[in-house]
Amino acid sequence: MIRQMPSSSPPRPAPPRVLISADDLQRRVAEMAASINRDYAESERLICVGVLKGSVFFLVDLVKRLELPVAIDFFQTSSYGGGTSPGEVRIRKDLDLPVRDADVLLVEDIVDTGYTLRTILDLLRWRGARSVKLCALLDKASRREVEVPIAYRGFAIEDLFVVGYGLDYAERYRNLPYIGVLEEGK
Ligand code: IMP
Ligand code: MG
Repeated sequence: MIRQMPSSSPPRPAPPRVLISADDLQRRVAEMAASINRDYAESERLICVGVLKGSVFFLVDLVKRLELPVAIDFFQTSSYGGGTSPGEVRIRKDLDLPVRDADVLLVEDIVDTGYTLRTILDLLRWRGARSVKLCALLDKASRREVEVPIAYRGFAIEDLFVVGYGLDYAERYRNLPYIGVLEEGK
């Protein structure tokens, strides 16, 4: 009989170091939702637009706390690789809903260089949204290359590569309930 050795699976890497705890995230998301509830109280048509996949966890927690009629929709983007300008953003999945005359709140996990958001904000305005504002959980301001105004900002962070609460490293770690930092060599 072949016996499975209990130690046959490779050791798992250490979990990422906690930068922002799950409790701190939930507290801040509640504060951001309270501001949005106040600011959009008169809005007739609010659409929260997320950028797949990173913003999903944040967007879901945020909209659950909105006491307004709100629709949700998603973009998916990717940057052109290999030799083209880093500022060229490709739309891989477009919105399903028309945004003309709607108040659009763009909900993002993190603003880094700003290229992705700049492209999407410009596109939403060009399509005739009544208003367009950005709500970003994390802001890595020191990395900014193009200006994007953030109307609702969760946390300012240093130039660290972070994972969790939607953010990934090679598609891993999105499901962590906190924002963590990968420590090299572990
Ligand atoms: P930007 O166009 O440079 O602002 O790109 C922002 C996108 O890059 C985010 O939506 C993330 O998908 C990704 N990104 C930037 N910084 C990080 C990070 O620290 N961890 C994980 N993904 C990141
Ligand atoms: Mg993203």
